Amino acid sequence: MAILVCGGAGYIGSHTVARLIEKGKDVIVFDNLQKGHKEAVPEGVALYVGDLRDPEALDKVFGENDIEAIIDFAADSLVGESVGEPLKYYHNNVYGTMCLLEKMKAYDVKFIVFSSTAATYGEPERIPIVETDRTMPTNPYGETKLSVEKMLKWSDQAYGMKYTALRYFNAAGAHADGHIGEDHAPESHLIPIILQVALGQREKISIFGSDYPTKDGTCVRDYIHVTDLADAHILALERLQKGGDSAVFNLGNGTGFSVKEVIEVTRTVTGHPIPVEEAPRRAGDPATLIASSDKAMKELNWKPAYNGLEQIIASAWKWHESHPNGYAK
Ligand code: UFG
Repeated sequence: MAILVCGGAGYIGSHTVARLIEKGKDVIVFDNLQKGHKEAVPEGVALYVGDLRDPEALDKVFGENDIEAIIDFAADSLVGESVGEPLKYYHNNVYGTMCLLEKMKAYDVKFIVFSSTAATYGEPERIPIVETDRTMPTNPYGETKLSVEKMLKWSDQAYGMKYTALRYFNAAGAHADGHIGEDHAPESHLIPIILQVALGQREKISIFGSDYPTKDGTCVRDYIHVTDLADAHILALERLQKGGDSAVFNLGNGTGFSVKEVIEVTRTVTGHPIPVEEAPRRAGDPATLIASSDKAMKELNWKPAYNGLEQIIASAWKWHESHPNGYAK
């Protein structure tokens, strides 16, 4: 019996595949390689290159393997892009996941761990955010992930398909041994961009907004190490397979760092001065997003191992220093 990881060649997917393999699990990766990297899939792990919206590609992977459960990362995930191209997000994220659920139903696969996001909340009502707080996404990306959460709920009710939706806050860092890490093109995330400045690939980092109602005027986020996220998926799947009910969990560290604080910690980690410029706000950015992960800690028995920002950035730096061009040679 194998675990099928959709989007397993991407950033969080590949780190989850690595942890599953380290724990001796049988893993198959399905990825269209639009964002993912085949180099991120370990040798010996079967990689099916295909798209969730292609029924034949899914029939091939479901037909050729005995699949016990799905972990699904396959999606578009850029907030800004989603505002400009909402239908692309509905097509890939909502319709794509619907196609996957149809095949799960057809092949009688009962468990799915789904990659959701803090963007389902929109502008939070209070900090820290708990899972029962209002969900009112401010962009199509968050809206499509919330739509899938609802599709999962109804599919559970109708077909007994058990799901866990994991709402990540800001994923960061890289595998401890530095062989896999974050490689987006173009890169839009704060920590890899700052590290590109440290590598001399960019002159400076633009701070998007310095007039937010936060401690230093810049946006505050809750950074969580990608390996801690990976481990939460495995715990979530084990819980479902032991008879646990469908559920939604936040995953964060519970501590917020401002953009300026992230830059300061990166200066310490890299020894680079990291020049900055103040730029206008980026559309759709909430001022502060911090998770309460109490539910995941209690019900999944999840405990993030990386609880310091310095540790998280140091692991990302190890990857970026050794792979300045990402997976490209
Ligand atoms: N930022 C800058 N300069 C940059 C890049 C980012 O100031 O060059 C700021 C952003 O404005 C934001 C913060 O740094 O305030 C973090 O930005 P990221 O793009 O790294 O992350 P986001 O918080 O925008 O988004 C992340 C994920 C999304 C997810 C969201 C949930 O990338 O997929 O968290 O909160 F939806």
